[in-house]
Amino acid sequence: MDFLPANINAYAEASTSSESELLYQLNRNTRAQIMAPRMLSGHMQGRFLSMISWMIRPRRILEIGTYTGYSALCLAEGLVDDGLLITIDHNEELEDFARSYWQKSPLNDKIDFRLGSAMDIIPTLNETFDLVFIDADKRNNSAYFDLIFDKVRPGGFMLADNVLWSGKVVELVKPSDLDTQSVLAFNEKVQNDSRVENVLLPVRDGIMMIRKR
Ligand SMILES: C[S@@+](CC[C@H](N)C(=O)[O-])C[C@H]1O[C@@H](n2cnc3c(N)ncnc32)[C@H](O)[C@@H]1O
Repeated sequence: MDFLPANINAYAEASTSSESELLYQLNRNTRAQIMAPRMLSGHMQGRFLSMISWMIRPRRILEIGTYTGYSALCLAEGLVDDGLLITIDHNEELEDFARSYWQKSPLNDKIDFRLGSAMDIIPTLNETFDLVFIDADKRNNSAYFDLIFDKVRPGGFMLADNVLWSGKVVELVKPSDLDTQSVLAFNEKVQNDSRVENVLLPVRDGIMMIRKR
């Protein structure tokens, strides 16, 4: 979902660094071969995630929701030399596809894929994260926030994708679907949590940027 007019969007994309050839191929082949390609972060958001990661220079990143591995490659770009990105997805059908692209990247050794339910895997992680990207099933956003909170270092960051949920968060009629209700509840929870500072960035489908105090 894009909220900007198409010409502004195109100009912003044209004025943003290009994807690498590998990311371009991953983006294109996801669209051609994989179900629901709109889930992929894509060029602009990918460069944004990379930029954020370069700004933080994280040692540990957690990604919840791998899909075809595009955002994992983008986020891994800013890791320090001995850094690691753990990425979780429960869809085993996508693992080989994602790995086939990671293996063509020098960042491959920095990506640790965990297959399974994020709710089961997160409690088993004995790491302190500098950066977390929440991008899986939106109805569990609040649960993921609670599960990871103590594993994020003070001063660390969390990003949550799709927090505008195609604009449904501002519909006048009270939403009846669980996903919209969950996104609304998550945004409100973050906004009211005095332990964090947050910015809802209206880029693409909305990214909630959160800093743990
Ligand atoms: C929006 S896609 C992730 C897109 C990816 N981060 C990117 O930007 O290219 C969401 C992914 O979350 C995964 N997912 C959904 N619910 C999950 C769960 N409970 N545990 C683990 N993975 C889950 C789906 O299989 C899907 O691949």
